[in-house]
Amino acid sequence: MPEARLTVDPDSVVGPIRRELFGGFVEHLGRHVYDGIYEPGHPSADDEGFRGDVIALMKELGVSTIRYPGGNFVSGFRWEDSVGPVRERPSRLDLAWHSTESNEVGLHEFHGWLDKVGSDLMMAVNLGTRGTLEALDLLEYANIRGGTALSDQRVANGRTEPFNVRMWCLGNEMDGPWQLGHRSADDYGKLASQTAKGMRQIDPDLQLVVCGSSGAHMPTFGEWERVVLTHTYDDVDLISCHAYYEERNGDLQSFLASAVDMDGFIDTVIATADHVGAVRGSKKKIDISFDEWNVWYIERFHNEDRIAGIDNWPTAPRLLEDIYSVADAVVFGSLMISLLKHADRVASASLAQLVNVIAPIMTEPGGPAWRQTTFYPFAITSRLARGDALRVRLDTPTYETAAYGEVPLVDAVATRDPETGQSAVFLVNRSVEEAVQVTVAISGLGDVSVIETHTLADADVYAKNTLDDVERVAPRANDSAAISDGVLHVTLPPVSWTAVALG
Ligand code: AHR
Repeated sequence: MPEARLTVDPDSVVGPIRRELFGGFVEHLGRHVYDGIYEPGHPSADDEGFRGDVIALMKELGVSTIRYPGGNFVSGFRWEDSVGPVRERPSRLDLAWHSTESNEVGLHEFHGWLDKVGSDLMMAVNLGTRGTLEALDLLEYANIRGGTALSDQRVANGRTEPFNVRMWCLGNEMDGPWQLGHRSADDYGKLASQTAKGMRQIDPDLQLVVCGSSGAHMPTFGEWERVVLTHTYDDVDLISCHAYYEERNGDLQSFLASAVDMDGFIDTVIATADHVGAVRGSKKKIDISFDEWNVWYIERFHNEDRIAGIDNWPTAPRLLEDIYSVADAVVFGSLMISLLKHADRVASASLAQLVNVIAPIMTEPGGPAWRQTTFYPFAITSRLARGDALRVRLDTPTYETAAYGEVPLVDAVATRDPETGQSAVFLVNRSVEEAVQVTVAISGLGDVSVIETHTLADADVYAKNTLDDVERVAPRANDSAAISDGVLHVTLPPVSWTAVALG
């Protein structure tokens, strides 16, 4: 059996783990909102039409901040359509997903749902087909207490207190040719700067996120960040990263190493942001909002028959409903390890998305809601990763991949909460054939014991939870975990993700 030797040093702090790292993303897309979180006729629905079973799963998932309402959707969205009496709201074409948006759920209703699930709102403004003025109007509507036309309108619409939204995204994926209102880095940078300055005139302490690249594979990657930040460095706090991974051409070994790509993506954006800061002689640091990340079988989506036709604009069609395997969840868990390894500069992250649409939670109309395989690494990491992220020294075998060259077989990160003294180690074994015997030197953590363990693995790495078998896959306790003489011993099955809590 291959062996890996890891060392956790409590002084090797990457940075504090901000709760925003465990954020999510809800887009008006497919069955995410309608027939997902909102289904008035469902047996578990509350008085506002929100599914109680989904709310319960959301709480278990442990999502902090939720980005809303898009995504590509936001670039064609008129926020005014989504407030006021529901029966007077217009139905609109959603060009991004060739659907009809009824606006039955809008800002007020969604905010009410966030209160039920215990999450905060991160709002995206439309800088695709709209501009600075509409963004300022939305901010006034949301955050000004009263006494102006738009804030009084909010009060008249039933919300006396301001929504007090703290985090705002300045558009979505403006580098992408598919984006409505797609712009050059220069044009977008100017618009984002002007919009951010205006927003700060209303509410100076907002956290503002400027659009970075839609992925490290974009032809403008790097240069986009440099130009956009050159325009906006003094105006914004964060720059976004988006990344989706999938198994391509049956190359499971490369797929399992996806986090290597995410590591490099983050490092490159940090280097570019710091370069712009250095050129400006600025002491300020721009952090990363990794506000779309997940496993997504995007090639399958591109190859599917798209919704099309001038007379065909369905409401809440089944779109992007990927069903995730054990292997997908292992990659997903390793992406969370990558985010934690960069906790000093990744200040916020949003799992894209949450319900039905490339989501950890699935629902059937009138039927059950259930956990996909990816639900588990998110819920467990969100619950156990507290305090500071700690760098783990790795002495691990490597393997060769077609996509990323030689990569570590085992990856890991540790966390430690100085207040409670509790720690956790998160590990992934990327071997498709062999279990790995891991030792983790943890004497620096003090006299700790194993509190809980979770390993996600299966003899069938493509096993999934489906409507017919909603509990086929779940993590199990890892009984191999034991501590002797300041060393944690744990065996990681092939293609597995593991969490060990210590205290
Ligand atoms: O999450 C699905 C889509 O992926 C989002 O709408 C878009 O921002 C990204 O391309």
